[in-house]
Amino acid sequence: MAHTLIVGGTKGLGRVVLRLLAKRGDLVSVIGRSELSPEDKNSGSIDGYQADLSDLKSIEKAVNQMVAKNGGINYCIFLQRYRGKDNEWIGELETTLTATKSVVETILPVFSKEGDKALLMVSSVFSKYVGEGQSASYHVAKAGLDQLMRFYALNLGPQGIRSNGVTPFTFLKEESKKFYFDNPQIMKVYEDIIPLSRMATAEDSANAIEFLCSPKAGFVTGQNITIDGGLSLVWPESLARRLMGV
Ligand SMILES: NC(=O)c1ccc[n+]([C@@H]2O[C@H](COP(=O)([O-])OP(=O)(O)OC[C@H]3O[C@@H](n4cnc5c(N)ncnc54)[C@H](OP(=O)(O)O)[C@@H]3O)[C@@H](O)[C@H]2O)c1
Repeated sequence: MAHTLIVGGTKGLGRVVLRLLAKRGDLVSVIGRSELSPEDKNSGSIDGYQADLSDLKSIEKAVNQMVAKNGGINYCIFLQRYRGKDNEWIGELETTLTATKSVVETILPVFSKEGDKALLMVSSVFSKYVGEGQSASYHVAKAGLDQLMRFYALNLGPQGIRSNGVTPFTFLKEESKKFYFDNPQIMKVYEDIIPLSRMATAEDSANAIEFLCSPKAGFVTGQNITIDGGLSLVWPESLARRLMGV
Protein backbone atom coordinates (compact mmCIF):
# COMPACT_ATOMS: atom_id res chain seq x y z
CA MET A 1 0.00 0.00 0.00
CA ALA A 2 1.43 3.41 -0.99
CA HIS A 3 1.62 6.15 1.63
CA THR A 4 0.95 9.63 0.19
CA LEU A 5 1.46 12.98 1.90
CA ILE A 6 -0.80 15.76 0.61
CA VAL A 7 0.30 19.30 1.46
CA GLY A 8 -2.77 21.55 1.24
CA GLY A 9 -5.39 18.80 1.17
CA THR A 10 -8.07 20.29 3.41
CA LYS A 11 -10.04 21.97 0.62
CA GLY A 12 -10.30 22.59 -3.12
CA LEU A 13 -8.32 20.38 -5.48
CA GLY A 14 -6.37 18.89 -2.56
CA ARG A 15 -9.53 17.39 -1.06
CA VAL A 16 -10.46 15.87 -4.43
CA VAL A 17 -6.98 14.34 -4.71
CA LEU A 18 -7.03 12.91 -1.19
CA ARG A 19 -10.39 11.21 -1.79
CA LEU A 20 -9.21 9.79 -5.13
CA LEU A 21 -6.03 8.37 -3.62
CA ALA A 22 -7.83 6.98 -0.56
CA LYS A 23 -10.23 5.28 -2.99
CA ARG A 24 -7.38 3.67 -4.91
CA GLY A 25 -6.12 2.23 -1.62
CA ASP A 26 -3.36 4.64 -0.50
CA LEU A 27 -2.77 5.52 3.10
CA VAL A 28 -3.16 9.31 2.94
CA SER A 29 -1.65 11.91 5.29
CA VAL A 30 -2.72 15.52 4.96
CA ILE A 31 -1.08 18.75 6.09
CA GLY A 32 -3.14 21.95 6.41
CA ARG A 33 -4.05 24.51 9.04
CA SER A 34 -7.68 23.41 9.33
CA GLU A 35 -9.05 20.09 10.44
CA LEU A 36 -10.20 17.45 7.99
CA SER A 37 -13.93 17.18 7.44
CA PRO A 38 -15.62 14.54 9.66
CA GLU A 39 -16.28 12.47 6.51
CA ASP A 40 -12.56 12.36 5.64
CA LYS A 41 -11.47 11.95 9.27
CA ASN A 42 -13.67 8.89 9.70
CA SER A 43 -12.79 7.27 6.39
CA GLY A 44 -10.18 5.01 8.00
CA SER A 45 -7.33 5.67 5.55
CA ILE A 46 -6.89 9.47 5.88
CA ASP A 47 -5.00 11.21 8.71
CA GLY A 48 -4.83 14.97 9.15
CA TYR A 49 -1.88 16.83 10.71
CA GLN A 50 -2.53 20.48 11.49
CA ALA A 51 0.47 22.63 10.60
CA ASP A 52 1.18 26.13 9.34
CA LEU A 53 3.53 25.96 6.37
CA SER A 54 5.04 29.33 7.25
CA ASP A 55 6.53 27.73 10.37
CA LEU A 56 9.32 25.18 9.90
CA LYS A 57 8.92 23.77 13.44
CA SER A 58 5.24 23.16 12.74
CA ILE A 59 6.15 21.28 9.51
CA GLU A 60 8.75 19.14 11.32
CA LYS A 61 6.29 18.30 14.12
CA ALA A 62 3.61 17.22 11.62
CA VAL A 63 6.08 15.08 9.63
CA ASN A 64 7.38 13.41 12.83
CA GLN A 65 3.81 12.61 13.97
CA MET A 66 2.97 11.26 10.52
CA VAL A 67 6.02 8.99 10.37
CA ALA A 68 5.42 7.72 13.91
CA LYS A 69 1.87 6.76 12.94
CA ASN A 70 2.16 5.59 9.33
CA GLY A 71 5.88 5.18 8.49
CA GLY A 72 7.77 6.27 5.37
CA ILE A 73 6.12 7.86 2.34
CA ASN A 74 6.00 7.08 -1.37
CA TYR A 75 4.49 10.27 -2.73
CA CYS A 76 4.27 13.92 -1.69
CA ILE A 77 1.84 16.23 -3.49
CA PHE A 78 1.98 20.03 -3.09
CA LEU A 79 -1.33 21.87 -3.55
CA GLN A 80 -1.04 24.72 -1.06
CA ARG A 81 -2.12 28.18 -2.11
CA TYR A 82 -1.60 31.45 -0.23
CA ARG A 83 -4.99 33.11 0.30
CA GLY A 84 -3.93 35.79 2.82
CA LYS A 85 -4.41 39.48 2.16
CA ASP A 86 -1.47 40.86 4.15
CA ASN A 87 2.02 41.07 2.81
CA GLU A 88 1.12 39.13 -0.31
CA TRP A 89 4.64 39.05 -1.77
CA ILE A 90 6.24 37.44 1.29
CA GLY A 91 3.20 35.24 2.01
CA GLU A 92 3.05 33.84 -1.51
CA LEU A 93 6.78 33.14 -1.77
CA GLU A 94 6.86 31.59 1.72
CA THR A 95 3.79 29.41 1.19
CA THR A 96 4.58 28.29 -2.35
CA LEU A 97 8.37 28.16 -2.49
CA THR A 98 9.98 28.18 0.97
CA ALA A 99 7.40 25.77 2.40
CA THR A 100 7.79 23.35 -0.53
CA LYS A 101 11.58 23.32 -0.13
CA SER A 102 11.26 22.92 3.67
CA VAL A 103 8.82 20.02 3.35
CA VAL A 104 11.01 18.27 0.74
CA GLU A 105 14.09 18.61 2.96
CA THR A 106 12.14 17.36 6.00
CA ILE A 107 10.68 14.30 4.25
CA LEU A 108 13.80 13.21 2.34
CA PRO A 109 15.01 10.92 5.14
CA VAL A 110 11.53 9.39 5.54
CA PHE A 111 10.90 8.28 1.97
CA SER A 112 10.07 4.61 1.82
CA LYS A 113 12.98 2.29 1.00
CA GLU A 114 10.77 0.37 -1.41
CA GLY A 115 8.25 1.03 -4.16
CA ASP A 116 7.69 3.95 -6.48
CA LYS A 117 8.51 7.41 -5.09
CA ALA A 118 7.66 10.87 -6.40
CA LEU A 119 7.06 14.54 -5.70
CA LEU A 120 4.22 16.32 -7.47
CA MET A 121 3.86 20.11 -7.62
CA VAL A 122 0.71 21.85 -8.75
CA SER A 123 1.61 24.86 -10.84
CA SER A 124 -0.49 27.37 -12.77
CA VAL A 125 -0.75 28.82 -16.26
CA PHE A 126 0.62 32.01 -14.65
CA SER A 127 4.03 30.35 -14.31
CA LYS A 128 4.40 30.93 -18.05
CA TYR A 129 1.69 33.32 -19.19
CA VAL A 130 0.95 36.76 -17.78
CA GLY A 131 -2.70 37.45 -17.04
CA GLU A 132 -5.14 39.54 -15.08
CA GLY A 133 -6.62 38.65 -11.72
CA GLN A 134 -3.46 37.25 -10.15
CA SER A 135 -0.69 39.10 -8.36
CA ALA A 136 2.93 39.50 -9.43
CA SER A 137 3.85 37.25 -6.50
CA TYR A 138 1.58 34.42 -7.76
CA HIS A 139 3.21 34.59 -11.22
CA VAL A 140 6.73 34.58 -9.78
CA ALA A 141 6.06 31.91 -7.14
CA LYS A 142 4.57 29.46 -9.66
CA ALA A 143 7.43 30.08 -12.14
CA GLY A 144 9.88 29.32 -9.32
CA LEU A 145 7.92 26.20 -8.35
CA ASP A 146 8.25 24.81 -11.90
CA GLN A 147 12.00 25.22 -11.74
CA LEU A 148 12.15 23.70 -8.23
CA MET A 149 10.26 20.69 -9.62
CA ARG A 150 12.88 20.28 -12.39
CA PHE A 151 15.76 20.85 -9.95
CA TYR A 152 14.51 17.96 -7.78
CA ALA A 153 13.96 15.72 -10.82
CA LEU A 154 17.68 15.85 -11.56
CA ASN A 155 18.98 15.91 -8.02
CA LEU A 156 16.70 13.28 -6.45
CA GLY A 157 16.58 10.98 -9.49
CA PRO A 158 19.57 8.94 -8.27
CA GLN A 159 17.60 8.21 -5.06
CA GLY A 160 14.73 6.86 -7.16
CA ILE A 161 12.53 9.88 -6.42
CA ARG A 162 10.71 11.30 -9.44
CA SER A 163 9.49 14.90 -9.57
CA ASN A 164 6.72 16.20 -11.82
CA GLY A 165 4.05 18.89 -12.06
CA VAL A 166 0.60 19.57 -13.40
CA THR A 167 -0.60 22.93 -14.71
CA PRO A 168 -4.36 23.23 -14.44
CA PHE A 169 -6.44 25.79 -16.26
CA THR A 170 -9.14 27.39 -14.02
CA PHE A 171 -11.23 24.47 -12.77
CA LEU A 172 -14.63 23.93 -11.23
CA LYS A 173 -14.29 22.90 -7.60
CA GLU A 174 -16.86 22.45 -4.85
CA GLU A 175 -16.15 25.93 -3.48
CA SER A 176 -16.50 27.70 -6.88
CA LYS A 177 -19.44 25.76 -8.38
CA LYS A 178 -22.06 28.23 -7.16
CA PHE A 179 -20.26 31.17 -8.79
CA TYR A 180 -20.02 29.44 -12.18
CA PHE A 181 -23.53 27.97 -12.08
CA ASP A 182 -24.87 31.45 -11.19
CA ASN A 183 -22.89 32.94 -14.10
CA PRO A 184 -23.49 30.50 -16.98
CA GLN A 185 -22.28 33.09 -19.51
CA ILE A 186 -18.72 32.53 -18.23
CA MET A 187 -19.06 28.76 -18.62
CA LYS A 188 -20.39 29.35 -22.15
CA VAL A 189 -17.28 31.36 -23.09
CA TYR A 190 -15.08 28.51 -21.86
CA GLU A 191 -17.14 26.04 -23.90
CA ASP A 192 -16.64 28.25 -26.97
CA ILE A 193 -12.89 28.74 -26.67
CA ILE A 194 -11.63 25.44 -25.20
CA PRO A 195 -10.98 22.83 -27.93
CA LEU A 196 -12.57 20.11 -25.75
CA SER A 197 -15.66 22.36 -25.40
CA ARG A 198 -16.07 22.40 -21.63
CA MET A 199 -14.69 23.94 -18.49
CA ALA A 200 -12.06 22.00 -16.52
CA THR A 201 -12.95 20.28 -13.26
CA ALA A 202 -10.81 19.55 -10.21
CA GLU A 203 -11.23 15.85 -11.09
CA ASP A 204 -9.41 16.42 -14.44
CA SER A 205 -6.29 17.57 -12.60
CA ALA A 206 -6.69 14.97 -9.83
CA ASN A 207 -6.66 12.16 -12.43
CA ALA A 208 -3.39 13.42 -13.95
CA ILE A 209 -1.87 13.76 -10.47
CA GLU A 210 -2.91 10.19 -9.66
CA PHE A 211 -1.17 8.94 -12.82
CA LEU A 212 2.06 10.84 -12.10
CA CYS A 213 2.01 9.49 -8.54
CA SER A 214 1.82 5.86 -9.59
CA PRO A 215 4.23 3.20 -10.89
CA LYS A 216 2.60 3.68 -14.32
CA ALA A 217 4.63 6.91 -14.54
CA GLY A 218 7.72 5.12 -13.20
CA PHE A 219 10.07 6.51 -15.89
CA VAL A 220 8.53 10.00 -16.06
CA THR A 221 10.38 12.78 -14.27
CA GLY A 222 10.91 16.52 -14.71
CA GLN A 223 7.67 16.85 -16.70
CA ASN A 224 4.69 19.14 -16.37
CA ILE A 225 1.32 18.18 -17.83
CA THR A 226 -1.01 21.03 -18.81
CA ILE A 227 -4.66 20.26 -18.05
CA ASP A 228 -6.44 22.82 -20.19
CA GLY A 229 -8.49 20.93 -22.80
CA GLY A 230 -6.08 22.20 -25.48
CA LEU A 231 -6.63 25.92 -24.85
CA SER A 232 -2.93 26.81 -24.71
CA LEU A 233 -2.54 25.59 -28.31
CA VAL A 234 -4.94 28.15 -29.69
CA TRP A 235 -3.34 31.16 -31.36
CA PRO A 236 -4.65 34.44 -29.77
CA GLU A 237 -5.84 35.75 -33.16
CA SER A 238 -7.98 32.63 -33.70
CA LEU A 239 -9.37 33.09 -30.19
CA ALA A 240 -10.25 36.75 -30.90
CA ARG A 241 -11.95 35.82 -34.20
CA ARG A 242 -13.95 33.06 -32.53
CA LEU A 243 -15.11 35.37 -29.73
CA MET A 244 -16.08 38.06 -32.26
CA GLY A 245 -17.76 35.51 -34.51
CA VAL A 246 -15.71 36.44 -37.60
N1 LIG B 1 -8.46 27.03 -8.41
C1 LIG B 1 -8.02 27.02 -9.66
O1 LIG B 1 -8.80 27.18 -10.64
C2 LIG B 1 -6.55 26.77 -9.94
C3 LIG B 1 -6.07 26.91 -11.25
C4 LIG B 1 -4.73 26.64 -11.50
C5 LIG B 1 -3.89 26.23 -10.47
N2 LIG B 1 -4.37 26.12 -9.21
C6 LIG B 1 -3.46 25.64 -8.15
O2 LIG B 1 -3.98 24.42 -7.64
C7 LIG B 1 -3.68 24.29 -6.23
C8 LIG B 1 -4.97 24.07 -5.45
O3 LIG B 1 -5.81 25.19 -5.69
P1 LIG B 1 -7.20 25.36 -4.91
O4 LIG B 1 -7.92 26.46 -5.59
O5 LIG B 1 -7.82 24.03 -4.77
O6 LIG B 1 -6.63 25.90 -3.50
P2 LIG B 1 -7.42 26.21 -2.12
O7 LIG B 1 -8.83 25.76 -2.21
O8 LIG B 1 -7.14 27.62 -1.77
O9 LIG B 1 -6.66 25.25 -1.09
C9 LIG B 1 -5.34 25.56 -0.70
C10 LIG B 1 -4.85 24.60 0.35
O10 LIG B 1 -3.61 25.12 0.86
C11 LIG B 1 -3.63 25.04 2.30
N3 LIG B 1 -2.81 26.11 2.85
C12 LIG B 1 -2.76 27.40 2.45
N4 LIG B 1 -1.90 28.09 3.24
C13 LIG B 1 -1.41 27.22 4.16
C14 LIG B 1 -0.51 27.32 5.26
N5 LIG B 1 0.10 28.47 5.58
N6 LIG B 1 -0.25 26.22 5.99
C15 LIG B 1 -0.86 25.04 5.69
N7 LIG B 1 -1.71 24.86 4.66
C16 LIG B 1 -1.99 25.94 3.92
C17 LIG B 1 -5.11 25.20 2.65
O11 LIG B 1 -5.39 24.59 3.89
P3 LIG B 1 -5.80 25.40 5.23
O12 LIG B 1 -6.60 26.59 4.81
O13 LIG B 1 -6.54 24.36 5.99
O14 LIG B 1 -4.51 25.76 5.87
C18 LIG B 1 -5.80 24.42 1.53
O15 LIG B 1 -5.91 23.06 1.86
C19 LIG B 1 -2.96 25.59 -5.84
O16 LIG B 1 -1.57 25.35 -5.85
C20 LIG B 1 -3.33 26.58 -6.94
O17 LIG B 1 -2.36 27.57 -7.15
C21 LIG B 1 -5.68 26.37 -8.91
